[in-house]
Amino acid sequence: MVKAVVLGAAGGIGQPLALLLKTNPLVTELGLYDIVNTPGVAADLSHIATPAKVEGYLPPDSGLAKTLKGADVVIIPAGVPRKPGVTRDDLFKINAGIVHDLAQGIAATAPDAFVLVISNPVNSTVPIVAEVYKKLGKFNPKRLFGVTTLDVVRASTFVAETLGDLSKSTEVVVPVVGGHSGVTIVPLLSRSSHPLPTAFDTEKLEALTKRIQFGGDEVVKAKDGNGSATLSMAYAGAEFANKIIKALSGGESLIAPSYVHLDADKEGGAALKKEIGKELDYFSTNVQIGPDGVEKILPLGKLTDYERQLIGSAVPELTANIEKGATFQRTPA
Ligand code: NAD
Ligand code: LMR
Repeated sequence: MVKAVVLGAAGGIGQPLALLLKTNPLVTELGLYDIVNTPGVAADLSHIATPAKVEGYLPPDSGLAKTLKGADVVIIPAGVPRKPGVTRDDLFKINAGIVHDLAQGIAATAPDAFVLVISNPVNSTVPIVAEVYKKLGKFNPKRLFGVTTLDVVRASTFVAETLGDLSKSTEVVVPVVGGHSGVTIVPLLSRSSHPLPTAFDTEKLEALTKRIQFGGDEVVKAKDGNGSATLSMAYAGAEFANKIIKALSGGESLIAPSYVHLDADKEGGAALKKEIGKELDYFSTNVQIGPDGVEKILPLGKLTDYERQLIGSAVPELTANIEKGATFQRTPA
């Protein structure tokens, strides 16, 4: 019996994500909220023969509160996407306010829900949500997640391509740590479940690393002004959300990569900061998630010199992104 909610449900990510959640038999209620079109999206999805009862609301008549009532998991893909020439950080101007206001709504109506943030820039929007909750005295770092699964999905695909066998892409697992933008995305290719070819030289390793870090740009360029990754993001978002739904409904602990506040597991977080060599508050890494949220923040483990160098380059940008989100002051629109 899980109620899942999508905020931004009529968008490029929101619609296919809602579709994938509707196919999860553990979801018994699906709440859809957007500033446009949710009644239509909800009516459409409601005809699919799966257990979830679907409802869609718009802002009037307390639509956000109605959508969120009783929510166990809230996924936020609301906000504007990139176009060519725009960075994720450029989206902060618009998306910071959107995420801030939605977080206030969640904290008011479903303060104990697991919150999964997709809206960019994730490195900053997650701290925005945390600060909203902190101001209200309701912050539980164990239940706040930045969704970085797309980086992991891309790493699996690109490594399988490199190995010349795309059928392996569902088996390949590559840890991707740090954050979710450019150089803050750090693939640990030395730890791929399927080792790279022995003839893989430094130049090729750097090119593959760069492709994973800047995979989002490939899609933005190909869409040529019509947004960024939506379908692959919906797939990745559903993969992560379904793990959370399984953990909270079955009581089973699962491991998944996510961008979390390092207080979510104080001991694991302190150990991770030592590995990184910096007092960061947020970082993406594998976490163990159970019915109450994050149980353990797992260590990065053995790194090559090149991977240490990548983390060194990620830290200053990540630090600035976190600071920007954590100090955001909402000016009413
Ligand atoms: P989109 O424009 O297609 O959809 C966004 C939706 O949000 C729209 O339907 C819009 O009406 C809605 N929205 C705007 N303001 C809202 C508000 N105040 N309340 C509720 N809904 C609101 O964009 P998209 O392609 O779906 O991308 C959404 C966000 O996800 C972007 O910020 C994008 O950069 C980000 N994204 C993140 C990842 C990731 O890996 N974390 C991947 C892809 C995209
Ligand atoms: C992605 O990685 O595809 C998303 O963050 C969207 C983007 O702006 O690239």
